[in-house]
Amino acid sequence: MCGIVGFVGREEAAPILLEGLRQMEYRGYDSAGIAVRSPEKGLQVKKSKGRLQALADLTHNGTDVSGCLGIGHTRWATHGEPNDINAHPHVSENGAIALVHNGIIENYLEIKEQLARQGVSFASDTDTEVVAQLLEFHYNECGSMLEAVGRVLRRIEGSYAFGIICSDYPNALIAARKDSPLILGYGENGNFIASDVTAIIKHTRDVAYMNDGEIAVLTENSIDVFDSEMTPLEKEHSFIEWDVTAAEKCGYPHFMFKEILEQPEAVRKTISPRIRDGRIVLDDISLTAEYAENISHIYMIACGSAFYAGSVAKYVWEQLLRRPVEVVLASEFRYSDPLVDENTLVIAISQSGETLDTMAALREAKRLGGRTLAVCNVVGSSIAREADDVLYTWAGPEIAVATSKGYSTQLAALDLIGLYLADLLGSVSREEYDEILTELQVLPEKMQQYLEHYEETQYYASLYFNHDSIFFIGRNLDFAMGLEGSLKLKEISYIHSEAYASGELKHGTISLIEPGTLVVALGTHGPLFDKAMSNVVEVKARGATVLAVTTEGFREKMEKTADAVIAVPETHRLLQPSLGIVPLQLFAYYVALQRGCDIDKPRNLAKSVTVE
Ligand code: G6P
Repeated sequence: MCGIVGFVGREEAAPILLEGLRQMEYRGYDSAGIAVRSPEKGLQVKKSKGRLQALADLTHNGTDVSGCLGIGHTRWATHGEPNDINAHPHVSENGAIALVHNGIIENYLEIKEQLARQGVSFASDTDTEVVAQLLEFHYNECGSMLEAVGRVLRRIEGSYAFGIICSDYPNALIAARKDSPLILGYGENGNFIASDVTAIIKHTRDVAYMNDGEIAVLTENSIDVFDSEMTPLEKEHSFIEWDVTAAEKCGYPHFMFKEILEQPEAVRKTISPRIRDGRIVLDDISLTAEYAENISHIYMIACGSAFYAGSVAKYVWEQLLRRPVEVVLASEFRYSDPLVDENTLVIAISQSGETLDTMAALREAKRLGGRTLAVCNVVGSSIAREADDVLYTWAGPEIAVATSKGYSTQLAALDLIGLYLADLLGSVSREEYDEILTELQVLPEKMQQYLEHYEETQYYASLYFNHDSIFFIGRNLDFAMGLEGSLKLKEISYIHSEAYASGELKHGTISLIEPGTLVVALGTHGPLFDKAMSNVVEVKARGATVLAVTTEGFREKMEKTADAVIAVPETHRLLQPSLGIVPLQLFAYYVALQRGCDIDKPRNLAKSVTVE
């Protein structure tokens, strides 16, 4: 979704802003803009609907816009259609203040009406412009920009990350945040703000994460941070471990393809450091055996693919822990008056750590007294910082909107935590613990093994890419894995697709099967393989074309019935989805490729959903 970058320093700002916005394109956007201030030209604002290239063309790659202080924004429309006027930055009526904003101002209409009564006129339909106008109003009243920002923050409700510049302050950039991420970057030739570290990683890896309620004033040599009472704060610096190549395509046709291939390494990085001398060591989390004993209920809350990772983990944890685990969509959990008390463990799963619904659900769980544990990929993200504990997935930056390595590392992290808790509780035998742990450690190799021979998946995608509707069926862990396989396909290829628990076929779904319907039958879960076979026979009898995904051991049997078979290496039955999902990701990828879709930036979707 929306992206912010800002710079103040000893270099031209416009090229830095354009490059920063380019690095955030993956998040999804529909318009972009920059505002740059120079002593000679004053405040210059350029905005354009559509791709960033349009803005680059408009400004001749930034050369038309001079000055060493500026802010930039990619917008994903919420209030007002995507057009040049609604694009950010928004400028106050007298043209002196420019502002970029991520988030939503909930009481903007009320403020807009109040300002309109005082004669202020508005150019756009956005909630953001209202903040720019309100800022001018307070600035005129009090004469201090910082004070005016403070007054505005006390008046507005909602979520925000702001970058603000003002003609009267030629050397300062002001930033503020609440419920929307904002990072401060300490550079050699100046200082930065960004909503996403990828925007500034080329310039600095020395960053600090702003907290809710904080205001920062950046100059070329300093960054001063204040709390909401304007008391100065000392910020703790963090060092970004990964380098810029991690967020670049490096010759691959798409980020999604690169990220699918990076899965073995990402899973290895997530698992290996946490296994020592044949035991799982989770230094990062502080759950004790005593606490584990008292857990009466476990919730997993998440959105999108993270929810589907939780759906797999539910089966795994219930097997291992023998405790009830409920997976709830974060957007439902937050409004469902959930049954949470101090004996409830709530696992929030989020690659970005910024998904608004997951964040809100986490806060609700904390408010009710539950113990929270986040599984996140982005260090310092809001969800990671607010949860009682966090276990990071070390997937590195994920750029493609449709997740692959983010999901795989979530599965691996959840397997680790589940097995760790089962060990604390004594609910898993020593033999099974050792067996699962050994298999966890060789998962990356087995993933790699499949990835070296994925051509058959590519071939089947070329056979089946022109279906209008594709069904995924499976039982138990295969069903949970099918949910993600089906989501992948619809996200990037725009083919209608649904995943069903095979046992439900007879209760209605089978009426949708007609001659030629493509069914992706999942039969990787050993204990239920025979039942999976029966379901294949069932849909075949109604004329379906069946593409089956199974394990090497079952390939031969499956080939007797299905039209096409893809086989993955075998592992412990509870870990099998980590291998089974890979061909489903690649199938979606190649189908989308055949259909000429914009794989890394599918229509209408955003990487990090920071609005409700
Ligand atoms: C968006 C992304 C999905 C992701 C979901 C949850 O819909 O496109 O790939 O699974 O958000 O995101 P999170 O960052 O919380 O895992």
